Amino acid sequence: MCGIVGYVGPRPSQSILLAGLARLEYRGYDSAGVAVIDGDGGLGMRKRAGKLKVLRDDLSEHPLADGTTGIGHTRWATHGGPTDGNAHPHLADDDKLAVIHNGIIENFSELKDELLADGYTFRSETDTEVAAVLLGREYQRSGDLVTAFRSVVSRLEGAFTLLAMHEDQPGLVVGARRNSPLVIGLGEGENFLGSDVAAFVEHTRNALAIGQDQIVAITPAGVEVTDFDGNPVEVEPFEVTWDASAADKGGWSSFMAKEVSEEPEAVANTLRGRIRDGEVVIPELDGLDDLFTGISRIIVIACGTAAYAGQVGKYAIEQWTRIPVDVELAHEFRYRDPVIGPDTLVVSISQSGETMDTLMAVKYAREHGAKTLSICNTQGATIPRESDAIVYTHAGPEVAVASTKAFVAQVTALYLMGLHVGRVRGVVPADEAAAHVAELEAIPGKIAQILEREQPRIEQFAHWMADTRSVLFLGRHVGYPIALEGALKLKELAYIHAEGFAAGELKHGPIALIEPGQPVFVIVPSPRQSAEMHKKVISSIEEIRARGARVIAIAEEGDAAVLPKADEVLRIPLAGPFFEPLLAVVPLHIFAMGLATAKGLDVDQPRNLAKSVTVE
Ligand code: F6R
Repeated sequence: MCGIVGYVGPRPSQSILLAGLARLEYRGYDSAGVAVIDGDGGLGMRKRAGKLKVLRDDLSEHPLADGTTGIGHTRWATHGGPTDGNAHPHLADDDKLAVIHNGIIENFSELKDELLADGYTFRSETDTEVAAVLLGREYQRSGDLVTAFRSVVSRLEGAFTLLAMHEDQPGLVVGARRNSPLVIGLGEGENFLGSDVAAFVEHTRNALAIGQDQIVAITPAGVEVTDFDGNPVEVEPFEVTWDASAADKGGWSSFMAKEVSEEPEAVANTLRGRIRDGEVVIPELDGLDDLFTGISRIIVIACGTAAYAGQVGKYAIEQWTRIPVDVELAHEFRYRDPVIGPDTLVVSISQSGETMDTLMAVKYAREHGAKTLSICNTQGATIPRESDAIVYTHAGPEVAVASTKAFVAQVTALYLMGLHVGRVRGVVPADEAAAHVAELEAIPGKIAQILEREQPRIEQFAHWMADTRSVLFLGRHVGYPIALEGALKLKELAYIHAEGFAAGELKHGPIALIEPGQPVFVIVPSPRQSAEMHKKVISSIEEIRARGARVIAIAEEGDAAVLPKADEVLRIPLAGPFFEPLLAVVPLHIFAMGLATAKGLDVDQPRNLAKSVTVE
């Protein structure tokens, strides 16, 4: 939540900041702002409520003097509504120092009282302005931005990434982080800071990840990182593996349309380099067998779509490892005093690697002795850095706020991990593992087939349903989390009532919702794999049809039994046990996107949301 970018170098900074903010806008779009130290050494600032476009238009109508040192911010509002005044940057009382912030400063009211008592006044309702004013006061005392910054950040409680610059020290941007993301981009004679690498990937792919409670000072000549006490620290360099065009729309009508089209690649890239002669070989887990041998349970923690990926993974991982797997929402796990210890492997799943609820749950798990493994899509992110082991999904940058391609990549990574653990523990025989690997390798082609054959029909269908006010989703076994994912996607993109249920739960309550015309998507399990489950889901369809429901079935090719029972049948290719969810989810992603588009909504930036939820 909130996107942050900083630049120092020889080039005019405004266009660099605005381009960086455009790539970070998925992190929040309540307001945007930039501050620049201009050629005459004065600090200029412009900020506007609304999307980045409002700021851009304002700057082109009323240009701001440019300069080569600057910071920019795109906001997801926490303290104070989305107004011009609450937008970042915030200035110290003498207007010479600018601050941007991501996170929540929990002790801001005590600090504010202290400053009010000292005669300072405030122009916004934000916690950030308190940090700016405090920093201004410290600067007046020390006359040095780094010194002032160090004394301020050690007084702040909560989660924050802060960047600051002062007009008397052009060519310097200072940043700090605690439980919020910040990465450094290393250029030639120029350096960058960003909430994630998307902020600067068009300029450099050389990056440094900053650890917790560290301060960074960037100048055109170099980068200095210290802890909050000023002791130098080593930082970990990494190379960004995707190029800037991967984070562009590339001719698609929306990022989401592009990202759904990339679902086959997201799976293929997550498999790449991890299969050798039919065996799963995960280089990142080399030498880490200890993580998997001494455990008696696995707890998967995640939020939202990532948690549904975890729920899908549970069935296969239990089967392949014979280790009990629980899946829990990270925020629930963290606050219920869970029974965990060295025999527990906590697997976190996060596209962004920054979700605060998940991060806090991972830290909690580690503090209580559990082993931790992170499945993450973002290099240099915080959650993997806080974990004992990492398996990256290689879905590429996901920009649309609602997760799509990351979901299929997460399920793929979980399956790879499950097979790896199953082999390490000697539970899955090699030939069975090889058969599962072959299934996984066939998934990208099968998703591509769905996109090619079914997408236009599903979009047309979504168009006809544009006035629908409620949609239900039913699934069983691995189809159940897919029903939940279908409902979540529709809620967040199309703003209509949508709920997912386990089909077996219908008679225990939800069937009361069925009235004539109620659309219900049903994920029909393969009759080849379980005739019994298939029969049960067909019975559920009969029950809701008898009460007037309009049934849209997602069923495998050749399943003839479903035809007379459903109003529409969306076909998916045949797949082995556990692998259907990777296919069944695709029509649901297309449908949610299609319906939102038909309603004229912004599918990339749905209201009230932000992609990276970095506050609890
Ligand atoms: C839904 C969606 C969210 C995220 C959730 C976790 O479409 O995108 O539910 O899945 O906020 O985010 P990450 O994976 O970044 O931890």
